[in-house]
Order: sequence, then C-alpha cells, then structure tokens
Amino acid sequence: MQIFLDTTDTAILKDLVATGLIDGVTTNPTLIAKSGRNMLEVITEICGIISGPVSAEVAAMDVAGMLAEGRKLAALAPNIVVKVPLTREGLTATAEFTAEGIQTNVTLCFSAAQALLAAKAGATYISPFIGRLDDHGANGMDLITEIRAVYDNYDFDTEILAASIRSPQHVTEAALAGADCATIPPDVFLALFKHPLTERGLQQFMADWAKTGQSIL
Ligand code: E4P
Repeated sequence: MQIFLDTTDTAILKDLVATGLIDGVTTNPTLIAKSGRNMLEVITEICGIISGPVSAEVAAMDVAGMLAEGRKLAALAPNIVVKVPLTREGLTATAEFTAEGIQTNVTLCFSAAQALLAAKAGATYISPFIGRLDDHGANGMDLITEIRAVYDNYDFDTEILAASIRSPQHVTEAALAGADCATIPPDVFLALFKHPLTERGLQQFMADWAKTGQSIL
C-alpha cells in the first residue's frame, strides 16, 4: 500500500520523506488555511520535496472554474494531481481532465455509488473519508471494502486512496480491505512505528549487549 502524508507542513514533510517510506502528499483547503501560506507557493515547495503524486484541490464549484484552476495547478509541476470534489460538476471536470491527461483525485467520497461514478469519469484516485463516516455513526471501513469489490468487478484502474485516517488501526484496516493507498496525518504516521513490546524488547537487548562489553565497529 502506498503511503501519502496529509499535510502542508513542509518542515515535517522533509523530515518524514527522509524515512524513504512516503510515496506522495495530499492537501485540502483546510490544510492550506492552516499553513497560513499562499497555496501556489506551498504546493510548488511540496512538489520540490517529493517526486510522487501531490494532490492540490480546486476551490471553484462550477465546471469552467474547476477546469481553469485545475489546469493552472497541473502546470505547477509534473507530479500534481488535481483534487476535485465529488459533485456532478466535479465529475464532469474529472472526465475532461482525464481526456487532457491530467491526473485527478476525487475527494469527499462517502458511498460506493459515488466511487463508481468517479471511476467512470476516469479518476486517477478516489478518496473515501473513513474517519468522517465513523464520526457520522457509520463504519467507514465498510466503504473501502465495498469500493474494492465494485472496482474489481469491472477492472476499474482508479486507485482507492483511504482518507480521513485517524489512527494506526485505520491504516491496518484500510490495508486489509484492499485500499491502494492511504493518506495519513504526520502524527498517525509516526504512531505506526511504535509498539510497547518493540520498546521493551529493545531495552532488554541493549541492556544485555552492554553486559557483553563488545563493540561491533
Ligand atoms: C484527504 O484527502 C483529506 O485531505 C483528509 O484525509 C481529510 O481528513 P479529515 O477528515 O481528518 O479532515
């Protein structure tokens, strides 16, 4: 499963890209607002930090506006993925972006029927929002399972990008459900490394190694 970071914090991104485990980045208008920076500047900087896909979201609600904004964003760097909302207008724009060879990430997906339409529009990625469905009283992970089955039934190439991830458990469950990618907040990514038994085991190994008085180098 590919791991994307859901962030506009370029300092954190640089630090975590150095692990060699990050495949791409997603952003959204809320994260741009949180950065306090100009969107075009921050997206261009992110594309300089990572060569994998970087999702940049349009703000227009109408097709012509989405197309104009998406083309401008796509021209920023070759690894830009234009993020569009899952609306009728968004999917009309997605079909046009697909015809133009521009990669797309259809966001705010909350049903398998919506995901089916996005795949028919040729979306590169579909972003089902797991955590927000859980918040709404549903089981977000069931949506990943349903979309996986629908896409496999018809051999759609659209990649399932599990989004709105809130915990390491979400990451595990998305992987088990067959998501192609997950976009993860930095704090959840860092939590993926941790297990109390790893820490306890390492402490014991280091204590025993010290008793040997040896050095490998
Ligand atoms: C995905 O593309 C979104 O940016 C993100 O995952 C939304 O997560 P949230 O529900 O925690 O805001």
